[in-house]
Parts: sequence; structure tokens; C-alpha cells
Amino acid sequence: MYNSKVIEIFNNPKNVGELKGANGIGTVGNEACGDIMKLYLKIDDKGIIQDASFKTFGCAAAIVSSSVATEMIKGKSIEEALKLENQQIIDYLGGLPDNKIHCSILAKEAITEAIKDYKNKMAKKAKKALNELKNLKAIKNAKSSKINKDKKA
Ligand code: FES
Repeated sequence: MYNSKVIEIFNNPKNVGELKGANGIGTVGNEACGDIMKLYLKIDDKGIIQDASFKTFGCAAAIVSSSVATEMIKGKSIEEALKLENQQIIDYLGGLPDNKIHCSILAKEAITEAIKDYKNKMAKKAKKALNELKNLKAIKNAKSSKINKDKKA
């Protein structure tokens, strides 16, 4: 059913487990088979994926696709990672059985979700920083208007 490359990677998958300090996490599942894939990304402030790992509760094809996908996106920008197609994973593996193609799609979806999570977190961070800046300006303005009032009095 699986070719020797798939079996080899299944026996020695890379990047397995939770990634400490991950700032983008994506969880996806396949309703039909019940498999779940969780992908962790550590993205630097230039948008480059410094590290990636996964936890997959699923079939051999899902585990192998996760391993290959995490290897393929390390060192890439988030824009490049979003362009990764499941066909590239399949080609790298030298093919997957037809009924296992959806397992490689799960890896692509997990990457998309993890990057979405990262972007949401960055947007929240930026909003918080903006609010803090507005508060600082409001405090500064209040202080200077009090000084002006005191001078007039
Ligand atoms: S059979 Fe469900 S992900 Fe492979």
C-alpha cells in the first residue's frame, strides 16, 4: 500500500511533539476518519519560520505528511509556507495511495491554521501596543493641561 519512502519516514518522523515557545498553533481534523493534526510554528519578527513541529493522531500518511510539511516550511517566510501545496508533499513522498491523498491536505490546512493563529496574535499585540500609546498620550495631555491651569492660577 505505502511505498518504501513513506514507510521509512513513518519509522523516523521528524519534528514530533509540542514546540515550546510556538507563536502559531493550528489544529485541524478530518471528520470522515476522525484524525487530528496539531501544528506548531515558531515565527520570528521578520515572518520567517524558525521552527515547526507537530502532534498527529492519525494514520501513517498523516504522520508522514506532517513530518515532510514541517521540514519543507522551516526557514521559509509565512507567505512561502502558505503557498505549499499538498501535491508537493505527495511528490516528495513519491506518491500516496488515492484514498490517502486527503491526509496530505490535512497538513496543508494545519499550516494555514497555524499561520492564521500567528497573524491573529500579532494583530492583538499591535492593538494592545496602540492602546497603551494612546493611554500614554492621554496622560501626557492631562498633565500638561494641569500645568497650564496651575500657571494661570
Ligand atoms: S486516514 Fe485520516 S488523515 Fe489519513
